[in-house]
Amino acid sequence: TVVVADTGDLDAVRRLKPQDCTTNPTLLLKAVENPAYAAIVEEALAWGRSQGGSREGAVAAICDRLAVAFGAELARLVPGRVSTEVDADLSFDTAATVEKARAIVGAYKERGIGRERILIKIASTWEGIRAAEILQKEGIDCNLTLLFSQVQAQACAEAGVFLISPFVGRILDWHVKNGGGPYTGETDPGVLSVRRIYESYKAQGIPTVVMGASFRNIGEIEALAGCDRLTISPALLDELAKAEGELPRRLSPDGVARI
Ligand code: E4P
Repeated sequence: TVVVADTGDLDAVRRLKPQDCTTNPTLLLKAVENPAYAAIVEEALAWGRSQGGSREGAVAAICDRLAVAFGAELARLVPGRVSTEVDADLSFDTAATVEKARAIVGAYKERGIGRERILIKIASTWEGIRAAEILQKEGIDCNLTLLFSQVQAQACAEAGVFLISPFVGRILDWHVKNGGGPYTGETDPGVLSVRRIYESYKAQGIPTVVMGASFRNIGEIEALAGCDRLTISPALLDELAKAEGELPRRLSPDGVARI
C-alpha cells in the first residue's frame, strides 16, 4: 500500500517521504497559519493586493493562489501526485467545477508543474462526477472525494475517474454519534465500507485507484493495509511508526513510504 500524506505541512512531507500528497481547505489553513511558511503566504497576499477588484473576489483568488502555491511546493517534494480541491460551494455545478479545474491546471503550469503531477479533487456528487468525466476526457486526472458508498464508487468508475477517496472516519463519526460502537479496526463501519468498494472494484477489474481517506485511528489504517493507497495525516503516520517498531524500514523500502 502506497502512503500518501494528507497535509499541507512541507516539513512533515520531507520527513515522511510519501509518494503523493492530498490537501483540502482545512489542511491548507493550518499550513498558512504556520510561521515557517510565511513567505508563501506573503507572496499570495502581495499578488492579491495587486489584482484590484472586490474584497470578496480578492479573498477567493488569494485562497486559490495559496492552494496552488502550497501544492507546487509539495509536488517538488514528492515523486507522485498532489491533489488540489475545487471549492466545496461548486460541488453541485458541473460547468463551474470544470472551469475551476482547468484554472487550477493552468496555475500549476505557470509554476512549472505539469498536469501529470496533479489530481483535481472534486466532491463525489452527481454533478462532480459529471465534471470529472469531462475532465478525464481532456486528460486531467481527478480524485473524487467525499465518497461514502458503493453507488458513488460505481458511478466514478463508469465516468473513467483516475482515483477515488472513500472516507473512513466520517462514517465512523456518524455511527458513534448515533450510539454505535465501540468498534475495532476490523469492525469499524468506515473500514468495512472502503473494503466493500475495494473488493467490488477488483472483482470487476476496474482500473480506478482506491485511496482510503479520513482516518481517525491507526487501527483503521492497519485494517486497510492492502488497499491501493491510503492518505494519512502526519500525526497518525507518526503514531503508526511508534506502534510498529520496524516501521521506518517497512515504510521506506525504496525511498517511498509504504505500509
Ligand atoms: C482526504 O483527501 C480528505 O481531505 C481527508 O482525509 C478528510 O478527512 P477528515 O474526515 O478528517 O476531514
